[in-house]
Amino acid sequence: MPEKNPIVTFKDIEKVYRGGNVAIEHVNLTINQGDFVCFIGRSGSGKTTAMRMINRMLEPSGGVILYNGEDIHKTDAVKLRRQIGYVIQNIGLMPHMTIYENITLVPKLLKWPEEKRRKKAEELIKLVELPEDFLERYPSELSGGQQQRVGVIRALAADQDLILMDEPFGALDPITRESLQELVKHLQEKLGKTVVFVTHDMDEALKLATQIVVMDSGHVIQNATPSEILQHPANSFVEELIGEDRLMQARADVTTVSEIMLKNPVSITPGRSLVEAIRLMRKRRVDTLLVTDDDNYLKGYIDIETLDKSYRHATSVSDILNTKIFYVVDDTLLRDTVDRILKRGLKYVPVVDHAGKLRGIVTRAAIVDMVYDTIWGDSDAEEGAPGLENTENKDNPTKSDSASSSKEV
Ligand SMILES: Nc1ncnc2c1ncn2[C@@H]1O[C@H](COP(=O)(O)OP(=O)(O)OP(=O)(O)O)[C@@H](O)[C@H]1O
Ligand SMILES: [Mg+2]
Repeated sequence: MPEKNPIVTFKDIEKVYRGGNVAIEHVNLTINQGDFVCFIGRSGSGKTTAMRMINRMLEPSGGVILYNGEDIHKTDAVKLRRQIGYVIQNIGLMPHMTIYENITLVPKLLKWPEEKRRKKAEELIKLVELPEDFLERYPSELSGGQQQRVGVIRALAADQDLILMDEPFGALDPITRESLQELVKHLQEKLGKTVVFVTHDMDEALKLATQIVVMDSGHVIQNATPSEILQHPANSFVEELIGEDRLMQARADVTTVSEIMLKNPVSITPGRSLVEAIRLMRKRRVDTLLVTDDDNYLKGYIDIETLDKSYRHATSVSDILNTKIFYVVDDTLLRDTVDRILKRGLKYVPVVDHAGKLRGIVTRAAIVDMVYDTIWGDSDAEEGAPGLENTENKDNPTKSDSASSSKEV
């Protein structure tokens, strides 16, 4: 990773509106070059206020903002604003100007020659996959989504490094919105821009951001990467913003089987007698026993029915040992294994380490309680429940890269 350079720094920023309304309180924040920063929070939390102070559309009541290391208060506000792209909701485009004039507004103010402006406009309109003759149209002759595309490229026209976007896609239908999100993310990465993006929508923030700034009542509650936010929400407010479903999903994305397994499975060695096996089953109130050798390698299982049937002609555990057993490896992510366990309808599944030693069991009840409804509740069952001896058979769990395997041991 290249060294990160701060492009915008908030130092103890405060904003009090006339009448004493405190919109921003003691905010410290660094935005690095090339980052995609999403401000997220409820209505009135101070997102727009924070953003508008970056290009001096608003002045802070206290504190200092640095832009490329310079105190913006000491620079010319108009000059600063021309260095920073800005996309606002819906309005953006000037109705009496053509798309070409709209796109090249800032380049014109920056006194770019006509030829350079034309070239830039043609290049940009292609980027958003609109026909070149749209340049001569007026905004009212474009659909809402097309206008929004123009709004996005207009912010790129003057080759500004930093682009501010205040809920730019709020009013769009989900499909247009999604394609514009992809467009913006793609352009930001391709052109190496820094974007500060305000949104209400956690899905949007998670999709776009490299850094999410969660705001509440003028404070920054959490400032972290999307995965940090998902995995370690700072408090219940952030949790609520993320939503239960996503939290569960995030947990399954990082939780391994070993973290939810029970560590003391009831097991027996093959040399034990069936009398001992029955005694153990009674004592532990189970109807199956895992069978491991003296070194704790998983060998199979025995169950009460087989035991019952074979009692007369068998004497030891090894006589009735069933070696076809489905197991999971301990460092497998829950995400990759849970639905398979559930589809098999097993009450529990032994967990082994990579060498094949028994480490614990995962019970169906534990899984269902924890995650099933929230994570896989609405996913389609894409296949029927496979039998124990299916194509996943692997001789040795160490060679297995699949999430879970059944094996003959
Ligand atoms: N010009 C103003 N004068 C007085 N108070 C203002 C002004 N602009 C905003 N506020 C107040 O400052 C607080 C933060 O407003 P801001 O517009 O930054 O919120 P926001 O997070 O962008 O909200 P939204 O999601 O609704 O756009 C709010 O309480 C708001 O009422
Ligand atoms: Mg706002």
